[in-house]
Amino acid sequence: MSIFCQILFICTIFSLVKLIVSDCESCYMHRYKADQKFEQKSTRFWEFEEESNTWVEVKLPYDLVSCINDNCTIVNSIQQMTTKNEDQKGESVVSNKREHGEKEDDKRGQKESSYAILPLRKRVSFTKMSDTSVWVTGESGSIYERFWNGLQWVIAPHDLPVSAGYAISVFMVNHTILALSEAGTLYQMQLTEDSQPIWIEFMPVFDQSTSKERGQSPAILLTSGVTSHDRETMFLCTKNGSLLELRGVDPPRWINHGRPPGANVAAIADAATVRPGVFFTVSAAGDLYEYDQTSKPPWKKHIRKEESRKDTSLAPIRGCTVHELIDAHSVSLFLLTKGGELVERRLHQRKWKWVVHGNPKGHSLSSITCISQDEFNENSNSNSLFLTTAAGFIFEYKIPKYSGNFRDQEVEENWENHMHPPHAKAARGIAGVHLQVGRMIFPLDDGRLAELHLSGLGGENLGPNSQVYTRRKSSYKFVWSVLDAPETEGWNAEYCVEERGPSNCIIGTKDEISGVANTRSSSRRRKDGKNQQNYLSVGASDNSMSANSMEEYSIPDNWIKNFRLRLMQGGKSFFLITDSGLTFEYLNTENVWLWLRHEHPTAMKGALGNYNGSFFLVDENGSLLIRERNSNELTWINCTAMRKGRQVVGGPPWDSVPGRAPKAKAEDTIFFVSKTGRLLQFAVALRKFKWKDCRNPPNTKIACIVDQEGFRENIVFVIGRNNRLYQYNKVTELWHEHYQSQHLVLSRSPGTATRASSGSLKGSIFMLSDDGGLVEYQWNQFDGWNWIEHGTPYTNVTLVGSPGPCFGGTELFLIGSDGNVYLRYLDQRTWKWTDCSFPYIGSKINNNERQAEEKSREEEICIDKDFDASFEKIEENLQAINKNCDPKVSSTRPIPFNEDSVIFELRDGRLAEIQRIGDKNWEWTTYHWHSNKLMHGELLGNLGIIRSNICFYGTTGVACCIEE
Ligand SMILES: *[C@@H]1O[C@H](CO)[C@@H](O)[C@H](O)[C@H]1NC(C)=O
Ligand SMILES: *[C@@H]1O[C@H](CO)[C@@H](O)[C@H](O)[C@H]1NC(C)=O
Ligand SMILES: *[C@@H]1O[C@H](CO)[C@@H](O)[C@H](O)[C@H]1NC(C)=O
Ligand SMILES: *[C@@H]1O[C@H](CO)[C@@H](O)[C@H](O)[C@H]1NC(C)=O
Repeated sequence: MSIFCQILFICTIFSLVKLIVSDCESCYMHRYKADQKFEQKSTRFWEFEEESNTWVEVKLPYDLVSCINDNCTIVNSIQQMTTKNEDQKGESVVSNKREHGEKEDDKRGQKESSYAILPLRKRVSFTKMSDTSVWVTGESGSIYERFWNGLQWVIAPHDLPVSAGYAISVFMVNHTILALSEAGTLYQMQLTEDSQPIWIEFMPVFDQSTSKERGQSPAILLTSGVTSHDRETMFLCTKNGSLLELRGVDPPRWINHGRPPGANVAAIADAATVRPGVFFTVSAAGDLYEYDQTSKPPWKKHIRKEESRKDTSLAPIRGCTVHELIDAHSVSLFLLTKGGELVERRLHQRKWKWVVHGNPKGHSLSSITCISQDEFNENSNSNSLFLTTAAGFIFEYKIPKYSGNFRDQEVEENWENHMHPPHAKAARGIAGVHLQVGRMIFPLDDGRLAELHLSGLGGENLGPNSQVYTRRKSSYKFVWSVLDAPETEGWNAEYCVEERGPSNCIIGTKDEISGVANTRSSSRRRKDGKNQQNYLSVGASDNSMSANSMEEYSIPDNWIKNFRLRLMQGGKSFFLITDSGLTFEYLNTENVWLWLRHEHPTAMKGALGNYNGSFFLVDENGSLLIRERNSNELTWINCTAMRKGRQVVGGPPWDSVPGRAPKAKAEDTIFFVSKTGRLLQFAVALRKFKWKDCRNPPNTKIACIVDQEGFRENIVFVIGRNNRLYQYNKVTELWHEHYQSQHLVLSRSPGTATRASSGSLKGSIFMLSDDGGLVEYQWNQFDGWNWIEHGTPYTNVTLVGSPGPCFGGTELFLIGSDGNVYLRYLDQRTWKWTDCSFPYIGSKINNNERQAEEKSREEEICIDKDFDASFEKIEENLQAINKNCDPKVSSTRPIPFNEDSVIFELRDGRLAEIQRIGDKNWEWTTYHWHSNKLMHGELLGNLGIIRSNICFYGTTGVACCIEE
């Protein structure tokens, strides 16, 4: 049962006098008031039976009884309904099968889940500018163009300035491109002197009589617009429900047409294509109005008689106009009702008439994609409309030529279900665009685009081509091709480039080395289908991972090992959480390195994040706490105590990717894992803290976050407690499972993402497998996603903890089960292993100079004189000196201190630093200016907190431990 149903469930209990619940087929939230007439909206009800502690369906009619002091009276009665009430919101699935009694009950569960109603993607829109260009506004509010550069389709960004907020639609009026923001402001695209496009605010301005008015009232805000067929005029709806007209842009001429008497303009259904100079609007109440400036009165209402059983009010969408459907003088305007039915307003023999076309069985229609009239005329025997259902299916409706007024059930054969691409549904309520004969593009609910085209005559690799053989069209079948969307929507399409080449923004040219170009483009073609198969939708119907075994998996006990160290500021400060729950910060102030203790009444468990000077920690109770500096005071903020706050057990592994500038955007959030295995989003931008529950994939709970937006903006990769990889899209709020071989079992620990650059989407996510091998999940433009298994450094050594940090995508640090640090590095396109050992062996100095330098400090520090002896001897000595001293590296996740340094925790609790020496070599540092402070030595010496014994590093790399 969905959350929505659960809410209704509860509210129905309150609303009815006895414990009766409806089946959520069409529930309404309404409070019971004694004087209100009881209105029945559901067909099935349940009663709570105390004896069996279960819900039992009641037989209708059923009396609702109110008892006060055992004085019971019947207040109302639930009747058996013969027909189902219409759904006024138009948001529920009207399933004819379900109306016709109980025999379909067995299939009910299945049907319901596959027809689940999709959310509305309010910012998504499509605008065809030309045969070679379609402009898209994405759910993220960004604008991008899909453009054919002569060689391939490329994606060009056209985002509004950040201050403008989210874009919701784009228009072309008289060769000028306009964009409308969600806030209601129009922007005009202009070219700067150096030919760079910029967006300039473009506000409605009226002539004197009206502009006076405007001076007093706030700026006119717009909600939607439609351009005329000739693209010289544009019609817009304002937020307060008036109709505006814009003629030309340079200079612009604005006309306010007002609104219908007693109603408003919620949508423009037709902009002068039915008849020149006349347009049709739909009011919020769902009535159709005709506006003709030259007639008196200008507004006319097209009344539609109420039918007893259907909701006849119209949905506020743009309709489709078809001329000559019946004869040379007929014209039809196709619209949808709020209940999801297709209706037609037809002018035939000078008379207007309503024709009901209904809906395909079980589906509620949500948008119409018009096919341009040219195609209609070419194929007069196949006049079709394409309709998107509320559940994301695309239906083709073959308009019957001489249709009378028929009922929906009788014309099932006129509807052809083109379904949707595998693992992706069409976005609800958003019209697609007709690209050309036999090619349509639709927005998908997951943020991508999909082309519905005749097989072989469309798709990613085929440009606009007017030479399609329409004669033999009937012999082709419609197929789906999925088209990728840019990173703003959390997907993988790269933007076009300014350099010469195949993906140039203006003209694509073949790669200089033609051989490379050929193999690449052909490999791309080959992989197209495969790419789509990487993103598996995880619907409720997917029960491949059995839920019972999933519950057995618990949070890994050592999760906290991943969050004991955290960088605060590169090269300047980091945090350390000790075993006993103390919080220390190691920082450099005024060129002095010191340890600062952050006191808190509860013991701390881990450091989970760092955003713009605020540090996020989790205490032993799972409370998320912010530590931050407020002027001169250090303060704690309890985030778990905020509204919707939760207890957490993990966060993102890294705060930023080394070498990439930190972001600062209005959408900035940090993701955490809740104690119950859900993904939690915590908004941090501008300190407007806000929790949101992103739930978990339907078939598993979350073990940890692999990567938050380091690999792909707007995408959070997680590992489920079933050891499989999933992703959450911040924009669409959808979960996807990634294709993963059944044999590959991932370890439930964070990963490390690397990307070549912020401009290129190429990169990898490194993870560990459950058996301690290194696993790479790689993406590139040509091959899409690929799993690569790197294995282990030696057959007798596995990898522990979690991978990282990674530098430049070519140097990845890992910790071995033997306590050594291993470096996996890329050497001229070949991955190799290097054993960096652990501090006292690896730092063995053979550089005389350095040795000499260190000699001078010998006095200060305890040195094992026998260091130059064999390793075995040192080991022996060490054991002799102190059993507690273990310089091998622990599985605590290390942190990059700066671009050339990594800090590890050792098994004995000390810290050690490895540094890049020269170009390639990494060495353990023991002689460095702050390395001694880095060790717990000073910390322990000053505070005596962690252990009673103090450990030092010798200047020649010898470690010795002294019992205090
Ligand atoms: C029961 O309640 C009704 C109205 O609420 C009242 O008319 C009637 O007298 C009551 N009967 C008893 C036995 O209290
Ligand atoms: C459209 O633009 C052209 C020049 O590009 C101009 O001549 C024409 O008058 C404009 N049309 C309107 C309606 O403003
Ligand atoms: C934080 O808030 C939660 C929820 O109110 C509470 O249970 C917890 O004790 C608080 N923790 C601290 C350290 O204040
Ligand atoms: C692993 O094997 C190598 C030789 O192949 C050996 O030198 C090393 O000591 C072994 N390590 C462990 C932890 O057994």
